[in-house]
Order: sequence, then C-alpha cells, then structure tokens
Amino acid sequence: MKLQRVLQYVQFLLKETVRPGDIVVDATAGNGYDTAFLAQLAGNEGHVYAFDVQQQAISSTEERVREAGLENRVTAILDGHEHVAKHVLKPVQAAIFNLGYLPGSDHEIITTPSTTLKAIQDLLQLLKVGGMIILVVYHGHHGGKEERDALIEYVSTLPQKYIHVLRYEFINQKNDPPFIIALEKVKEMA
Ligand SMILES: C[S@@+](CC[C@H](N)C(=O)[O-])C[C@H]1O[C@@H](n2cnc3c(N)ncnc32)[C@H](O)[C@@H]1O
Repeated sequence: MKLQRVLQYVQFLLKETVRPGDIVVDATAGNGYDTAFLAQLAGNEGHVYAFDVQQQAISSTEERVREAGLENRVTAILDGHEHVAKHVLKPVQAAIFNLGYLPGSDHEIITTPSTTLKAIQDLLQLLKVGGMIILVVYHGHHGGKEERDALIEYVSTLPQKYIHVLRYEFINQKNDPPFIIALEKVKEMA
C-alpha cells in the first residue's frame, strides 16, 4: 500500500463527498483545474460556484470548463471568497481552497488570513451536514506562514461536536510542502 499524496488525497475526499446534483464551491479558481474536477462530480443537475479575485483566473477557468463541455455546470465569479454568502444561497456539499498564489501569475496576489477565515466561517454555515471544506495549505511563500498559523489557530478551536478537523501532512519533506486541512460538518451548529 502507498500513502496517498496530498493532491491525490484531496481528490479522494472530494470523490467521496460530492454526488451528482450537489452544490459545490471552488473558493480559489486559479486555472480552473479543481473547478473542472468538481463539475464532473456534480453532474448535470449539480453546480459549481468558482471564485477568484483575478480576471485572468476567471478567464482561464471559463475556458477550461468550456473546453470540457462543462460550462452549464459552472458559475465563475470575479469576487473574493469572503463574499461567498452574497453569491451562494443554497446549501453546499463541499468547498475547496488552494491557498497562496497562482503559479505563473502575480506572486503578490495571495490569499490572506482575514479573508480566508471569513470565507470558512460563512461556508461552515452554508455547509450541509456530511459536507466538507478542504484547504490545501501552501505556506512556503511570503505571507504563507502567517496564513497557515492563523488557520491552524482558528480550526483548532472549532467544537468537535459539530465539526471534525483533520490535518493530513507528510512531516519529513523539505521545502514547506503543502498539507491538507479538512473540515467535516457532523451536526448542524446551534
Ligand atoms: C493556488 S491558486 C489556486 C489554484 C487553482 N485551484 C487551480 O486549480 O489552478 C490561489 C488563487 O487564489 C486567488 N485568490 C486570492 N485571494 C482570493 C480571494 N480573497 N478570493 C478568491 N480567490 C482569491 C488567487 O488569485 C489565485 O488564483
């Protein structure tokens, strides 16, 4: 048996969580790889809301889903994920974040602690019981460690009665490899 690599494990969690007909969120669309993957899982009756603050990312995402014939299943939104509650009004089965910057783009445009935490808080309200928020935490770049620490501090305080919090990480790899935080909603929050 081989331990699943970080990105393999992300796809495994999404496949286990998302069913045809589900509403799902790609909180950091980037080049649209996760958006397209989620659109496959959500099927014709489901829908993906994909957020990014860069027009370049929204255009790449729209192009990727169009080429895959999945455009009817995706709404790409040029807005920060901290405004998710303004755009997504239905219960959500899963959300994914890839933190950090878009490779090949402006490395100064990064996800930030305050906006990431606001988005997680709002998504936890929108999330169905049995649903999951997955964060791929890249922390090697400038600003990455501050975001990682704020995130760990916040998710560690979530009450286990309502949210199960997993950290999946290879701890002997060099150069700040990414790791996963997964939040599973197990009970509607009071
Ligand atoms: C690591 S990349 C995402 C990679 C993407 N998942 C893919 O498959 O290509 C992070 C993205 O987050 C975006 N971003 C930064 N702040 C954001 C915010 N507040 N809301 C939504 N997206 C944001 C960046 O513009 C960048 O495209």
